[in-house]
Amino acid sequence: MKTVVCKQEELEPGNMIEAKLGPIPIVVCRTLDGEFYALANKCLHQGATLSKGMICGAAAPTDTPGEYDYIKEGEILRCPWHGIEYDIKNEGRMLADPQRKLKSFNVDIEEGNVVVSR
Ligand code: FES
Repeated sequence: MKTVVCKQEELEPGNMIEAKLGPIPIVVCRTLDGEFYALANKCLHQGATLSKGMICGAAAPTDTPGEYDYIKEGEILRCPWHGIEYDIKNEGRMLADPQRKLKSFNVDIEEGNVVVSR
């Protein structure tokens, strides 16, 4: 099963677009380095549509209590409902619980089109 989502240039780095792979809602994310990733468009917590959230970075604690670094800019998909963060480049794993991850799909560029398959 595969679907053409959009033209490559229609999805700018740091943005996402929702689509369907057959009956499966998916979100295609483009990270700041220009790579494309396709994930299930449904939060593992209570099922929010992740494409209504945002692509951003995440706060990571430092050795100094109360201080944080901002990491993974443009690589985190944040749920719009309660803010669970998914690592786009790491198979859609939850930052807070990396054992849990979104279903991910293959993305290929075919004749300038972003094509998702499973
Ligand atoms: S539904 Fe996504 S964090 Fe709650």
